[in-house]
Amino acid sequence: MAPSDRSNAFDEISEMDSTALFKPEVVSLVVSKSESGGPNLMTASWFMLAGYNPFRYLLAVSHETYTYELIEENPEFVLAAPSRDMIDALALAGTVSGRDLDKIDHLGLETVPGDAVDVPLLADAIGNIECSVMDSFEFENCTYYFGSVENAYVTADGLDGRILSLEEDILAYMGSNWGAEDEDEKYRYHAGMSPDDLERFPDSDVIETLPDDLKEKYSR
Ligand SMILES: Cc1cc2nc3c(=O)[nH]c(=O)nc-3n(C[C@H](O)[C@H](O)[C@H](O)COP(=O)(O)O)c2cc1C
Repeated sequence: MAPSDRSNAFDEISEMDSTALFKPEVVSLVVSKSESGGPNLMTASWFMLAGYNPFRYLLAVSHETYTYELIEENPEFVLAAPSRDMIDALALAGTVSGRDLDKIDHLGLETVPGDAVDVPLLADAIGNIECSVMDSFEFENCTYYFGSVENAYVTADGLDGRILSLEEDILAYMGSNWGAEDEDEKYRYHAGMSPDDLERFPDSDVIETLPDDLKEKYSR
């Protein structure tokens, strides 16, 4: 592709703005607790499913956070999926440290005890995943924890088969941005989704496009 083709097709954006490309995303609220402190809440978007047998999530935790201290003391955490109503919790838990404020108490969030982990679940979340750390590695100023899934929960009737019901009002986070230049305000953005927005597409449509020998290989 010639440079002129690229600039005709795309606007170049900054590294920071590249984060807009994989939105909306469901940001997690990570709960951690140890004998000496917590329970504490931290907003986290640096996490991913990282394999199965056992199912595990990889979570990056900055060494500057209180969460890091707590997970180092008790290698367990809960990944909670926030509802739309928890957008203020997402902002607070992502800005203020648990060293300075009991965020769960301040936000008036209810918790229920975990089962396999000594870390509570968030009662108002769409769902919670109890994780125990099975491995970790450090890179620069973060530790990356592989949290093996001990138990996972969703609100009653929250799943339709494997699909999350959009009745649940999941927080589809679009990121944050400053307001107009003369305005000293930052805004958080949420993309509304209703059950009517859900569309389904048959897998067989994709298989149909393949050459005949591959059709057979990939058909179920
Ligand atoms: C949208 C968003 C996503 C974030 N993702 C992460 C993350 O994945 N890992 C991390 O260490 N910090 C992340 N942060 C920053 C922490 O949430 C923030 O430093 C928080 O105050 C740490 O809280 P703590 O000191 O109570 O643990 C994120 C913040 C925001 C707003």
